[in-house]
Amino acid sequence: MAEQKKLLRALAGETQDVPPIWMMRQAGRYLPEYRATRAEAGDFLSLCYNPELATEVTLQPIRRYGFDAAILFADILLIPQALGADLWFVTGEGPRLSTITTEADFAKLGPVSDIHETLSPIYETVRLLSSALPSETTLIGFAGAPWTVATYMIAGRGTPDQGPAHLLRQENNPLFETLLARITEATIEYLSMQIQAGAEVVKIFDSWAGSLSGDAFEKYALEPCRQITSELKQRHPEVPVIGFPREAGGKYVGFAKATGVDCVALDNSVDPEWAAAHVQVDGCVQGNLASRHMVTGGQELVDDTRRIVSAFGKGPHIFNLGHGITPDASPDNVQLMIDTVRGG
Ligand code: CP3
Repeated sequence: MAEQKKLLRALAGETQDVPPIWMMRQAGRYLPEYRATRAEAGDFLSLCYNPELATEVTLQPIRRYGFDAAILFADILLIPQALGADLWFVTGEGPRLSTITTEADFAKLGPVSDIHETLSPIYETVRLLSSALPSETTLIGFAGAPWTVATYMIAGRGTPDQGPAHLLRQENNPLFETLLARITEATIEYLSMQIQAGAEVVKIFDSWAGSLSGDAFEKYALEPCRQITSELKQRHPEVPVIGFPREAGGKYVGFAKATGVDCVALDNSVDPEWAAAHVQVDGCVQGNLASRHMVTGGQELVDDTRRIVSAFGKGPHIFNLGHGITPDASPDNVQLMIDTVRGG
């Protein structure tokens, strides 16, 4: 019974003695078996678009650790590519895209109805996973939030302060809003297809939400997340949505109510006792151990893990890191975190 899966029970608002656990970027370079499969695939994007190998790397951390959820192996930047942007990854540096700063650049993008041609291998991965996963493991689909995806599309790469995107939003606001609307519409269709293929939960990653302040946060982080969630809820009322407005600080308060998401993921700058009192009061929260513990390990890892489990112990909670695990992490530290959550 799907309702009995631990992760779905937390998302439905149930408090559990031992919270369900999974990890952002759980399929990744810290695992030797991931590095081997990635070498077989060639490069990162070839791995994303190869349903058999993408399924394999999604399953690797489930086999090794028995996490309560598997997250589809893909990337938030596949949407820009499916809309017609060029995308490539420079080893050791990160993503590169063709930039969008003028109406002429925007005009080169294709319509939303075209995205499925590029993205169909991703839907195939979801289908393969939904039959391959153990019956107790929940399958999470995902997409980037429109603001975060736009920051990469405008700058053509990751930026420390999202400067180019802030500049466009101020200097050519109509173009910026048109781009955001296109990404929002594409994201709804993409997530809806993931759900039809078998995703049981979807997560919206707004990694750069924290760089929006005041009204801009409401308009460009909160509002697109509300639009996506409300449209998905109309089409698929049974599918929970996790929102991750990373580094939103005080703006995590009320985010779930304002957007309709079932769960808010917290980054590790948020104090767990504070978040239990001000965010978890509205429903399920996910998080928020600092990823660095997966590198450093030891008693601090154990102490911080216990503190988070205890702070969120009186309400619905999904244990996770505050951000993705890094390539220099030790697989043994991941096991220590899991043993601490499950064994006390
Ligand atoms: O969590 C998972 O295991 C599922 C897969 C997943 C990946 N990226 C795989 C990946 C997910 C959910 C993402 C989300 C993602 N991608 C975000 C939002 C979350 C966050 O980290 O803030 C962002 C901003 C991206 C864009 C992106 N992809 C960047 C900036 C990079 C380069 C940085 C890096 O870590 O190398 C990637 C590459 C990427 N995406 C890798 C993986 C496993 C590493 C690629 C490799 O194998 O070389």
